[in-house]
Amino acid sequence: MGDVTVNSNVSRDGFTTKWGIIAAAAGSAIGLGNIWKFPYITGIHGGSAFIIVYLVCIVAIGLPIMLSELLIGRRTQKGVIGSFKKLAPKSSWFLIGYMGLAAAFMILAFYGVVAGWTVDYTVKALTGEFTGKSAEQLEGMFDGFIGSTAMPIFWQVIFMGITGLIVVAGIKNGIEKYTKILMPILLVILVMLCVRSVTLPGAGAGLAFLLEPDFSKLSAEGVIAALGHAFFSLSLGMGTLLTYGSYVRKDNNLGNTAVNITFADTFIALLAGVAIFPAVFAFGIEPGAGPGLVFITLPNVFMQMPLGSFFAIAFFVLLAIAALTSSISILEVVTTYLCEQSRISRVKATIIAIIAITALGIPCSLSFGAMSEFKLFDKNFFELLDYISANILLPLGGMLIALFVGWKLKRKDLEDELTNGGSIQAAWLSTFMILVRVVAPVSIAFVFLHGLGLIKL
Ligand code: PHE
Repeated sequence: MGDVTVNSNVSRDGFTTKWGIIAAAAGSAIGLGNIWKFPYITGIHGGSAFIIVYLVCIVAIGLPIMLSELLIGRRTQKGVIGSFKKLAPKSSWFLIGYMGLAAAFMILAFYGVVAGWTVDYTVKALTGEFTGKSAEQLEGMFDGFIGSTAMPIFWQVIFMGITGLIVVAGIKNGIEKYTKILMPILLVILVMLCVRSVTLPGAGAGLAFLLEPDFSKLSAEGVIAALGHAFFSLSLGMGTLLTYGSYVRKDNNLGNTAVNITFADTFIALLAGVAIFPAVFAFGIEPGAGPGLVFITLPNVFMQMPLGSFFAIAFFVLLAIAALTSSISILEVVTTYLCEQSRISRVKATIIAIIAITALGIPCSLSFGAMSEFKLFDKNFFELLDYISANILLPLGGMLIALFVGWKLKRKDLEDELTNGGSIQAAWLSTFMILVRVVAPVSIAFVFLHGLGLIKL
């Protein structure tokens, strides 16, 4: 049996294999962030110089915070709130958990909307709706679709329903089972697209855009975007990996697991870049086209290439799968919390969470149409949730988690968890301590102060 037995008699569901946890956590990390967002923000911020800063953020800040989350989760075998209450009773650290829950609600609300678009586009690709359309028509099709009321909400609800079904099935029989199948499929489709893209005539300029750094194109904004995206892409700062960590077996080498997840996420983001930019350049499209890059530009690219319909279907299926394995992980944070806190069944907890989050997603969807007039701080509802969660709550949560592990957690707990009670080596422990104590919190604080306009680069 793979169940992890904690504190003698409480038996919990859990991941059964090393590959299962890596597939699930990499599935969480790899999502719309990698395939939809990473290429377009790389395009906006000028290409490879942005990528280099992003990679530094991933290694120096993302990786140690990921390990921190995993170790807190596995140490306590609890969700986002229970874990802090257990490790630091009678203190306020558990508030990190409430921030995480708020972020989970907001992210899944808007994420479900974009995920719904990917399902609609999969159907459009299957029914050949891109065929024969000009660039303007494809743009009109996208704007018309996201601006309409019924269809985007319909697909959002369907997508959220599927997410709920997998989460209801549990860790071993739901999340582990499906991500283990879905992630390799995703990799195969992406590699196929890369091969197609780099063999297009004129692909070289796209590769140069990815490989030859031009630091003059990198702004302070770009640096901030790189840090924020590192959190979003690695699913950090809101307890996703803490929650998954709580289901990891005691004999798992957490350091290796964190490195594998980080590597997989980064590798897929770079592959997405290789799949997209050579094609974008080969067809003379503007790399800084923004969020529409995937939904407007790529169908355009697909229709101009041999076997285009096939690649269009493959691409949108890929995007939908990537979105699904990420949404599952966000929902799991809320489900685990509800089950733990109110002792209701997993099914009930999941249904409550799905209904509440989908409801919050509806105004996000309407932000592009019926509710586009509604603006706060110059942002529509969708942008507002994206901004508050990804740019504020995740980095803040990440900073607090790093501070917690660096300064509050007992050294014995920490060493015990990272070395599996002394049975494995962790030669990198002192480097890890410097990163969580100083490097990660200071860099994040710096970005915040800059964001608030208190310091200027
Ligand atoms: N990492 C996911 C992506 O790149 C999004 C996500 C954010 C998932 C936060 C979980 C938590 O698409």
